Amino acid sequence: MHNDTMNPGLEYQAGTPPQLDSLHRELPAGTLVDKYGRQISYVRLSITDRCDFRCTYCMSENMTFLPRDQVMSLEECLRVARIFVQLGVSKLRMTGGEPLVRPNALWLFEQLGQLEGLRELVLTTNGSQLERHAPALKAAGVRRLNVSLDTLRPERFRTITRIGSLDKVLTGLEAARQAGFVHTKLNTVMMRGFNDDEFPDLVRYALANGLDISFIEEMPLGDIAGRCRTYISSQEALAGLQQHFDLIPSAESSGGPARYWRIPGSQTRVGFISPHSHNFCDSCNRVRITAQGELYPCLGHNDATALLPLLRRHPDDDGAVRQAIMDSMGLKPKAHDFTQQMDAPQVVRFMSMTGG
Ligand code: 5AD
Ligand code: SF4
Repeated sequence: MHNDTMNPGLEYQAGTPPQLDSLHRELPAGTLVDKYGRQISYVRLSITDRCDFRCTYCMSENMTFLPRDQVMSLEECLRVARIFVQLGVSKLRMTGGEPLVRPNALWLFEQLGQLEGLRELVLTTNGSQLERHAPALKAAGVRRLNVSLDTLRPERFRTITRIGSLDKVLTGLEAARQAGFVHTKLNTVMMRGFNDDEFPDLVRYALANGLDISFIEEMPLGDIAGRCRTYISSQEALAGLQQHFDLIPSAESSGGPARYWRIPGSQTRVGFISPHSHNFCDSCNRVRITAQGELYPCLGHNDATALLPLLRRHPDDDGAVRQAIMDSMGLKPKAHDFTQQMDAPQVVRFMSMTGG
């Protein structure tokens, strides 16, 4: 499948490694291309493993967070981002944990907003701090927000997040709208018995507030018991929503595991994110970096490259880090390994480590 991140001049056939020689000839020097010919144009950068919520599907109740010296400094985050942008990355998603609980996170956003070559700076947040930060994020050049919202009922919100307050998130969403953010997207993790009866209400909320919404299949990350009992497939959720709304398939694609539908007469897009399906790996354009500075070429594999020691060993020369990033392209697998056997975590990291 083609998408806007593939080199349009090349015939790329899903599943067959293209001729790398010809690929490298057609792309600018230093562009990141993996061994299956996929160009990496999108980086998701986690700037903290901490969060002011403890969502049941994301964290255990008593999380141990990383000691500060094992987390990239904001300067190191900026340096890594700059190197990736120099290597042709044009989209950067800031994530966590909750990025906005990191002290001085705004400084980093301001710096990133000025990086030449970065076309899209976006943020995934739980919304708890948006009331305070939305105007500054907008001014820094953040293009779009993804805000996690699994329920519109305060007591359920408290059950799912353990310590979060729904009110703060809804106020944050309104602050974002007032600051000028458009097409803010809600991310709803689907959980049978917890929020599956609310999907139509969440879509109505999105419609009423000019938001997009994506329903996310729960992913087997981290050691959290009982997951198979709450798992719902996108297919099932879509069928349920089609009984309430006229959903028109949309061709839009982000090169990721999302498929979108539109509701006639509205701007709202309804997405379904199916990390269990395999059909998006061929067009994967992204890598992830943890707050510890580990570069994960694939969310579904444990292979990673430790960038932090290199950053610290070579404070004034980006060469070693750049080379490690280019070498890590060889680690990117053809496809991920998630299976439907949800009770045993196939990947032992928590989501708060790798970011969503
Ligand atoms: N499965 C699916 N989505 C998850 N998120 C966190 N943990 C999981 C999981 N196990 C989502 C959050 C947030 C984004 C960062 O990732 O809801 O929207
Ligand atoms: Fe925090 Fe997001 Fe994880 Fe919830 S899902 S605990 S909001 S990082």
